[in-house]
Amino acid sequence: MIEPLVLGIETSCDETAVGIVRGRTLLANVIASSVEEHARFGGVVPEIASRAHLEAMQPTIKQALREAKVSLNDIDAVAVTAGPGLIGALLVGVGSAAGLAIGLDKPMYAVNHLAAHVSVDYITHKEKIKPTIALLVSGGHSSLLQVNDITSSIVKLGQTIDDAAGEAFDKIARVMKLGFPGGPAIDAMAKEGNASAINFPRGLTTSNDWQTRPYDFSFSGLKTAVARYLESVPDYVRADVAASFQESIVDVLMLKALAACKESGIDSLVIAGGVAANSRLRTVAQERCDKAGIALSIPAPGLCTDNGAMVASLGALMAAAGRRPTPVAFDANSSLPVTVVSLS
Ligand code: KG4
Ligand code: ZN
Repeated sequence: MIEPLVLGIETSCDETAVGIVRGRTLLANVIASSVEEHARFGGVVPEIASRAHLEAMQPTIKQALREAKVSLNDIDAVAVTAGPGLIGALLVGVGSAAGLAIGLDKPMYAVNHLAAHVSVDYITHKEKIKPTIALLVSGGHSSLLQVNDITSSIVKLGQTIDDAAGEAFDKIARVMKLGFPGGPAIDAMAKEGNASAINFPRGLTTSNDWQTRPYDFSFSGLKTAVARYLESVPDYVRADVAASFQESIVDVLMLKALAACKESGIDSLVIAGGVAANSRLRTVAQERCDKAGIALSIPAPGLCTDNGAMVASLGALMAAAGRRPTPVAFDANSSLPVTVVSLS
């Protein structure tokens, strides 16, 4: 099975997403989001997400097959997010994938959502796959990883000790009444602002931090600093706050990512997860990687946020590498560690 046709299902949060790939070629990427049903609560409500997945699953699979111009019987393997994520939401995807795998009598790969975020880069950029540092920044996670082999060996170098980067964007957007999710709104508003107008703190970057936890992140101090600023400076310029807040996050992410590249001697960096869609992060990352001689790879913005193509992509890489499929009777794991690429 050199170029396996793989259907991937993603339901870890509020997107019911189905992607189809043939090897490293993307054929379909269909996303049904329940985000609008959660917006008035300012965050994702698990029960609402699970019910929305149940309703959207079948039409989303059908639409993906239509887009890919393949039939269910053509599928060589099914891949699904096994975790981390909301357990009720995950179970809808897992149940659907297991049903398909049994019905079609095809192998199933139950994969890690975070590894899948990184692996989607391999369908965007077709270069030879080699060890890389990965900066994974999403709504639930912010980690620095050393990816020796995306199908089998991921080492965690560091992670956030409090909020995830995306969570910080969402919380500040909430305080600034910019809606949910906050990342895209702050990204847009920041374009009109001055990024050096306010010098917000850079978490875990004192010389002591560089000694003791060089690859960990902390964004809660920044969040508090921004909230205090908004309270104490009544005539603040919204765009300047957005731009300066965003700059602090981008600066710290890139400082630590490049330090990891330097220390490990790996001259390649992948940035993945929803926050990788951030336009300022993409620009600064390119500038700094060019300067440091690091090959930078960031998936297209539409593939950075949750999608099914990333799950299909990891499934296809697993199949091509001859990794063992997952037996159909398995449990989703809401806190699956990033180092566990797939369940076996
Ligand atoms: O990876 P993702 O879609 O879901 C999780 O696995 O968490 O990431 C969602 C996060 C949200 O916090 C959202 O605000 C953030 O990604 N995000 C952004 C941008 N687009 C999405 N953050 C900053 N700038 C963006 N353009
Ligand atoms: Zn995600």
